[in-house]
Amino acid sequence: MRVFVPAETRVGERRVAILPQVVSKFTQLGFDVHVQSGAGVHAFASDAAYRDAGATVIEAAHVGGAFADADAIASVRPLDYQHASRMKAEAVSISFLSPAADVETVRGLRDAGATGLSFDLLPRISRAQSMDALTSQALVTGYRAAVVAADHLPRFFPLFMTAAGTVQAAKVLVLGAGVAGLQAIATAKRLGARVSAYDVRPASADEVRSMGAVFVTLDLEQLEGAGGYAREMTDDRAAHQRELLAPYVAASDVVITTASIPGREAPLLVTRSMVEAMSAGSVVVDLASESGGNVEGSVAGEGVRFGEVLVWGARDVASQMPVHASQLYSMNVFALLGLTVADGSVFVDPQDDVIDGCAVVLNGEVRNEAARTALLGGE
Ligand code: NAI
Repeated sequence: MRVFVPAETRVGERRVAILPQVVSKFTQLGFDVHVQSGAGVHAFASDAAYRDAGATVIEAAHVGGAFADADAIASVRPLDYQHASRMKAEAVSISFLSPAADVETVRGLRDAGATGLSFDLLPRISRAQSMDALTSQALVTGYRAAVVAADHLPRFFPLFMTAAGTVQAAKVLVLGAGVAGLQAIATAKRLGARVSAYDVRPASADEVRSMGAVFVTLDLEQLEGAGGYAREMTDDRAAHQRELLAPYVAASDVVITTASIPGREAPLLVTRSMVEAMSAGSVVVDLASESGGNVEGSVAGEGVRFGEVLVWGARDVASQMPVHASQLYSMNVFALLGLTVADGSVFVDPQDDVIDGCAVVLNGEVRNEAARTALLGGE
């Protein structure tokens, strides 16, 4: 069996799907690892490191054949039509494939009779934890959010008691306490800040407290939906939530927002006037910028100033820490690919509940409803 790792082509993507240090694990699973020359360059993984690890490096001029010959293709971003449609029938592509948005990939996989497994759809069950790339990458983004905030804040995070007087610790508020939010809390705590956090899911209160942060309780009905995710709220409720959050935002030196609802635009939690009510020099990090933004006026990939407050809009944050983001992602790919091996060949079992959840296309059949609708819309 052969697994191919193409170089990522999307602008801003610096991760690689398999790092050299994980190559031997794929070999033990029965795969020859083929890697496009330069695929690991942004994650500081050279072609020589891949060769030393036992992988075969494919020059750019020969990658067409590599797509066609592979039994599995591991990438971070989904393949484009040209490459997906060249895959062998029944070969498997693993990536962050968005069923509704990546229509051309779905079309290519269908035309090739191949399979597309998406980390976006992986069921969040205990058995799949080692494969959960949404979690591993959210951990990276949450950590980075706190570090970016500390870097831009013109004050200390920790409390200092010095001969020249006492400096109070920074007050950090985290909105949305899922995987990224909890990691932002943990990192801000390690840096010594006074951290509080809010989430609509009742289960998050204990998790927040277990990190040593204060859970902010608002006088609002809680909203937990299917699979432990949050549900979307009505406009009135969302406006009421913002009103209740306003004094907490105003009293913070740093606000980190991470709230999202699967398949929907991110909820607006902080308006421009709420940002402007913060004290001069404060910093807001909006991790949801790319999916609509939790903060009014935030721009993905840019720092915008509202008065004297900086609003940092996230873009490709996991790619800003490509080494560890790729390391964790490589292990997620390894765990998921392991599910597709039976008797020395690639076999995707639709009876397996993990495969059933994340197979957007299975041997050419488009199984995901959102993908089918998007595909029909374009044909
Ligand atoms: P996410 O990225 O979809 O959302 C981030 C957070 O935003 C969530 O905690 C959500 O409740 C919150 N949120 C949404 N709307 C909000 C609003 N209006 N105001 C405040 N907060 C709002 O979530 P993530 O990080 O992917 O985690 C979702 C759930 O999945 C959590 O319950 C988490 O514990 C669970 N999970 C389970 C795993 C497993 O069992 N294998 C692995 C990872 C996560």
